[in-house]
Parts: sequence; structure tokens; C-alpha cells
Amino acid sequence: MERVLLFGGSGILGTEVLRMLQNGKIDYVAPRSFNLDIRVRNLVSDLVQDFKPTWILNCAAWTNVDGAEDSFEEACELNEVAVENIAIAAKGIGCKVIHVSTDYVFDGESEAPYIEDSLVNPINKYGESKLKGEKTLLAVLPGSFVVRTSWLYGVKGKNFVKTIAGKALRNEPAMVVDDQVGCPTSSRDLAAGIVSITRIHPVPGVYNFSNEGSCSWFELAIAIYKSVGADPQLVEAIDSNSLNVKAKRPKFSVLNKDKWKMAQLSQVPEWHSSLELVLPEIVTELRQLGEV
Ligand SMILES: NC(=O)c1ccc[n+]([C@@H]2O[C@H](COP(=O)([O-])OP(=O)(O)OC[C@H]3O[C@@H](n4cnc5c(N)ncnc54)[C@H](OP(=O)(O)O)[C@@H]3O)[C@@H](O)[C@H]2O)c1
Repeated sequence: MERVLLFGGSGILGTEVLRMLQNGKIDYVAPRSFNLDIRVRNLVSDLVQDFKPTWILNCAAWTNVDGAEDSFEEACELNEVAVENIAIAAKGIGCKVIHVSTDYVFDGESEAPYIEDSLVNPINKYGESKLKGEKTLLAVLPGSFVVRTSWLYGVKGKNFVKTIAGKALRNEPAMVVDDQVGCPTSSRDLAAGIVSITRIHPVPGVYNFSNEGSCSWFELAIAIYKSVGADPQLVEAIDSNSLNVKAKRPKFSVLNKDKWKMAQLSQVPEWHSSLELVLPEIVTELRQLGEV
């Protein structure tokens, strides 16, 4: 019987992983940060020694991309030091770790989808901190799994799809960049993917997972407006230079999923079909939050 320790179970991705653990009747614990701060090494090791998980799933992270530019040390505390704490604790009892990373480890200059072995070269501090975390984990515990993902969205937490759906439902205009191309990832699909690793036990290492296909943020926004029945002409394309944000973003960050598919892990649905499945729940959530 698997025993799972989940960190970050309240985030965009973590809530979907938590749901899968609950539905799968898996023995798990999922502490919030106010109960267990993963930056504190002995707290992590005590819980791991006590609960003795067979898997640790790390969905916790510093995810404020612009904030990381001025708060790099704090970002690294969570994206590197906490990951090291998890790796050391896991090594102590011989359990496996699945850690989530990002397309922002790449510089976006490629014209072809990035494979797991593509040259990493982050162009912002968030990407740098996440890359440090990947390297630390694999150095301490080479049998671990790093799952790189991109453009994550879901029902819970702050994310682009939810923000744009809110604007669409309020019939507000949206200015969205059309010069960054990537692939949206439904947190539900990724959660299923993470759980599939615990069942299939593929070769350890780095794996890419996003939904299939690619689009710009502008194209994604248009799809959202259309899907909720709003006027897509309310969406205006702008270029990244006109945005007043601190961190640079890669122009192109589509991830190649061939390794994932070869390992026969979970399905990789096309981004548009996953969006259509999740959007009604996002709309319900926005109504419940009183945002629309
Ligand atoms: N969002 C994206 O577009 C995106 C894209 C690519 C990759 N990723 C990666 O995907 C993963 C999941 O991201 P997400 O967007 O789902 O994250 P998120 O919604 O920002 O959630 C972050 C999680 O981290 C936890 N956390 C924060 N500080 C903590 C601490 N000191 N100790 C323990 N837990 C702490 C939070 O728990 P509490 O609520 O309890 O504080 C929360 O559950 C991350 O590794 C991220 O880098 C995200």
C-alpha cells in the first residue's frame, strides 16, 4: 500500500493531486504551510520519519515570477532549499520523490518543442530558482522524478484562465500578449500524470508534461471568451514589451512529451479539449467567489 506525503496540496496543482489521493483511497498526509514550513529542515525530516511515506509529491513552490526578481533569496528558500530538505529526508527512509518544475528553465529561443535534455538557460530569477531545485534534488536523490510543466491552470488558486474567464463573464476587455507561445496545462491532467508515475514506476529523471498542442496567451484568451459565450473581439493582442512586468518570459516554451508517452504514463489530452472540460467548473467557482 502506497503512503503519500503531499506538499503544496492547496495550490492550483496540489488541490487536484489531493483530490486524486482522496478518490483513490490512498493513505496520505498533506500539511499546509502554516502547519509545516518545508523550508525548515528538521520539520520535514521529523514528519517523514514519523509518517514513513513511500512517495513524497512536492507541489509547493514560490510561484510569483515577477516577485522573484527582487526576492531571489526567498524564492530559493522554497524552490531550492526546501527541495533539498525534502530530498535529504526522503533519502533517510528510502522513499521516492516527485517534484514539479517549469518550462521557465528554458530561454525560449528554440523553434522546436523542448525535450528533457534541451539546454537549460533561464532568463528570469524564478526559472533560475526552479533550476537550482531540480539540480539539488537529482544530486541528493538521483532516483527522483522532476516533472516540468507550463502555463498551469485550474479551478483553485490564481491563474490566467480563471482571471480571463472572469473578465469574459463580466464583458470586460482584456489586453493579452500574442508573442509568447507555449502550452496550457490543466492541473487535473497533470495531477493524473503525477499519480500515474507512482503506479507505473518509470525510469527516474526529468519528464515534460503539458497538454498537447500550442498557442499564444492571446489565442488562449480568445478560446476562453468564446467558450464562455463572451465576445472575443473584447480581447486585444499586445506585445510583451508593452507590459510593465519585472521578469522576462520565454517567447517559446512548448514542451515535447515523447518521453512521457514512451513511458506509457497518463494520457496527454489536447489543450483545447481539457480547457472545455474544466472551464464550466471555473465559472462555477468564480460565481461562488462572487467575482462574476
Ligand atoms: N502556475 C504555473 O503556471 C506554473 C507553470 C509551470 C510550473 N509550475 C510549477 O508547478 C508547481 C505547482 O504550482 P502551483 O501554481 O500549483 O502553485 P501555487 O498555486 O502557487 O501553490 C503554491 C503552494 O505552495 C505551498 N507553500 C508555499 N510556501 C510554503 C512553505 N513555506 N511550506 C510549505 N508549503 C508552502 C502553498 O501552501 P499554503 O497554501 O498552505 O501556503 C501552496 O499550496 C510548482 O512547482 C510551480 O513552480 C507552475
